[in-house]
Amino acid sequence: MRINKFLAEKGVASRRHADEMISARRVKINGIVAQLGATVEETDEVCVDDKPLSRAEVKEEFYIMNKPKGVVCTVSDDRGRKTVMDFLPEGAGRVFPVGRLDYDTEGLLILTNDGDTAFRLTHPTSEVPKTYMARIAGTMTEKDLNRIRSGIELDGVMTKKCKAHIVETNKAYTKVHVTITEGRNRQVRRMFEAIGRTVEFLKRVSIGKLKLTGLNRGEVRAMTEEEIAYLKGV
Ligand code: URA
Repeated sequence: MRINKFLAEKGVASRRHADEMISARRVKINGIVAQLGATVEETDEVCVDDKPLSRAEVKEEFYIMNKPKGVVCTVSDDRGRKTVMDFLPEGAGRVFPVGRLDYDTEGLLILTNDGDTAFRLTHPTSEVPKTYMARIAGTMTEKDLNRIRSGIELDGVMTKKCKAHIVETNKAYTKVHVTITEGRNRQVRRMFEAIGRTVEFLKRVSIGKLKLTGLNRGEVRAMTEEEIAYLKGV
């Protein structure tokens, strides 16, 4: 089995994050630094940060966090900035963020050690709707929003059709709810930039049925059984 898949199944990281850990030389197979794409057998000893991975099943953990802005969505940061891991409750296992929110974006973030669920949720074919509250500088009209709804060309590829509606508008700003089913890099910000508008504030308020409600900035809570069952089913 490929080392990144192995690490995901053991609940250490998503496959993508596992690749980052391998590139950072944090993973060893039988005492030798692992290369990207290496394969492992059940009998191999795999260490992360020189700690052997227990062969026992790792207990699954799922958290919902209200990520504040000014925090990076990674497990560690080489520039010493605050990461989402700094907000986890004491005793939390080796969970990792599912997908990314920009440094300047706040809102709902899932953290888990369930590599399969993370892989499914972040896979390009996953169509789980993600809703954002975006505050755009200046007034916006339905005509402007229609351009967002019908798709915008980013890096030569159109974004999928999406939902968008105005929550509030005045001369200074417009608040818009945007629901996308993709997760391209800085997608919401870039969609508005492409029509000449600036996103002043961006917050993710839901992922599928999961809502941010009740969590203050920087707060994290364990998911309910119902939420976990829902996520595993998407
Ligand atoms: N779209 C963005 O522009 N930023 C995010 O963090 C998420 C979606």
